[in-house]
Parts: sequence; structure tokens; C-alpha cells
Amino acid sequence: MARQVSFTDETIEEAATLLREGALVSFPTETVYGLGANALDDGAVASIYAAKDRPSFNPLIVHVPDNETARRYARFSDLAERVAAALWPGPLSLVLPRTKGCPLSKLVSAGLDTVAIRVPASAPARRLLVASGVPVAGPSANKSGQLSPTEARHVADGFGDEVALVLDGGPSVVGLESTVLDLSTETPTLLRAGGVTHETLEELISAPVAVAGVDDTAPKSPGMMSRHYAPHTPLRMNASEMSRGEALLGFGGSKNAVADLSPAGDLVEAAANLFRMLHEIDGGGYAGIAVASIPESGLGRAINDRLRRAARG
Ligand code: TXA
Ligand code: MG
Repeated sequence: MARQVSFTDETIEEAATLLREGALVSFPTETVYGLGANALDDGAVASIYAAKDRPSFNPLIVHVPDNETARRYARFSDLAERVAAALWPGPLSLVLPRTKGCPLSKLVSAGLDTVAIRVPASAPARRLLVASGVPVAGPSANKSGQLSPTEARHVADGFGDEVALVLDGGPSVVGLESTVLDLSTETPTLLRAGGVTHETLEELISAPVAVAGVDDTAPKSPGMMSRHYAPHTPLRMNASEMSRGEALLGFGGSKNAVADLSPAGDLVEAAANLFRMLHEIDGGGYAGIAVASIPESGLGRAINDRLRRAARG
């Protein structure tokens, strides 16, 4: 069972330090409890996916203490400014283009050029975000496929010491995940229903808001989207040798690799490096990318899922 502590000045400081150091900390928000990691740190973000047992890299929501901090990481259109001014802090996540040179881990966006960002209303969450001084990536703090946690003990029961600390801020008042609104495309689109309703959004925007999966114009779920990052360079998997002009992306100490996802064969390290190394090799002018074989276990399943999509794209 993960260590659960009540919310005090001291435990906030401890949690903030753990976050800065790359550990996982579960924190209360008004919607549900989040499984937090430093969103600037690829390794910390990779350990979220490992702890959740996610079979693929769903993009994660980044939590920041205020609108001004959000602008560092996401590009706000006039419409996005208006929505944020009206509904933040609150149970709403906005999907927006990443800023140029955005320092957030690429893994947070699962390789997309957008980021989902939100300013939570819960006072404990905001105090932690201010104390840590880093943006915090946080999916709901449940194992993949299980119920979202609305109390600290749900989280503590669900995880072992892969979660360094669970901050208890009492039961979540909304008890339902945030609404996810995509403002990165022409048509504002509701990707997930949640604490802020469709009606509230349409009234505020004074225009129809499409609903993903219902309206034909709306994008499909993030994992299926074609603008999901795929390298421009053709990619093949399970490569044991290279052809001319190809770059080998290795694993576990492959010989002649231009980069190695994890020389030690560690899948969490490999996940942390995946999108960054693919981007780097993609820009290197190679005829193809040959990726060494990755074991189909643990985070290897998510890595291979991503590579299969990239190979098809
Ligand atoms: O209430 C909440 O939103 C909680 C608390 C902890 O903030 N977090 C949460 O995170 O529910 P998670 O990871 O369980 O759900 C994130 C949702 C997913 O449906 C994901 O596909 C979507 O947000 N999402 C995240 N980034 C996205 C992006 N760049 N584009 C499209 N959808 C994105
Ligand atoms: Mg969830």
C-alpha cells in the first residue's frame, strides 16, 4: 500500500520535493485524485504509464497553478483566452497547441503537437502546484481500466511503493473527471464530458461545440487520430540488421545504433526516450528508421503500440 499522509504545510513541502526529484505523488483535485509527476521530466512521466499499466500512451493532462503559467506551455487563441478566463480554475481541460520550444516532456502529449492543460480549483492542488514550482502531469490515480479514485484511500489501496506519497485532501467534491475541450482545431470539440457541461460551453462560446464520436466533423479519440505523431521517415520494427541509409534505433545496447532507447534494456527508460529520439532521428535525413525489437511486456506493450502506428503511418 502506498504511504498516505494528511495535508499539512510539511507534507506539501515533502510532496513538492518528491515531485521535483521525479517521484510520483498522488494529489487531490476537485474532480478526482491525480497521479502526479513532473511534466518536464521524461522519466517521471514514463513512470506514470508504468504505474498505471496502460497498454498505450494516452496523452496526459498537465496541471498548473494559474492561467499565466499555462501560457508558457500552450498557445492560447482569443477564444481559448476567453474560455480560460471564464472557467478556470475549474474542472475543465483545454487541448491547445504546444508553444514553440515547449519544455514539457513529449511523452505528456504522447507525441501530439497539442497539450491538455488545466488549472484545478481545489485549494490543496493549487498549493502543491505553487510549492513544487513545476507543471504536474496527472492522469486519474487508478490502474488502467479501474474506477477513478475520489478518496485518498482508493489510491493508497490501488498502488504500492511505485507511488511515493498520497496526499489526503478529503473526498473530491466533483467526483467526475474534468471536461476535455479541444480548441486546437477549427471546430471546438468536446472530447470528454465532465464537470463543465456542453450547454455551459456553447453558451460561453456562442457557437456549436461538436462532440467527439457523435458528430462526423469531430476528431476521434486521441489514440486514433491521424495527426498523432508519426515520423516522416519510413519506420520498421523488430529490425536485426540495417539497410543502406537507415538509422537504427536500438534497445538494450544494440550495435551501430544512432541512438539507444535504453542501453540497459529498461522499458521505463525506453518509454521516456521514445518520442524525443524518434523526433531527433526523423530530422536527421535518413532513408528509414529501423527499430530494434522491444519486449512485449510492461511498458513495452505501449512502446510497441506506438511503433506499430508509426510504422503504418
Ligand atoms: O479530472 C481530470 O481530468 C483528472 C484530474 C487528475 O485532473 N485527470 C484525468 O486524466 O482524468 P486522464 O489521463 O485519466 O484523462 C485525460 C484525458 C484522456 O481522455 C485523454 O485522451 C485526453 O484527456 N487528452 C489528454 N491530452 C490530450 C491531447 N493532447 N489531445 C486530446 N486529448 C487529450
Ligand atoms: Mg482516467
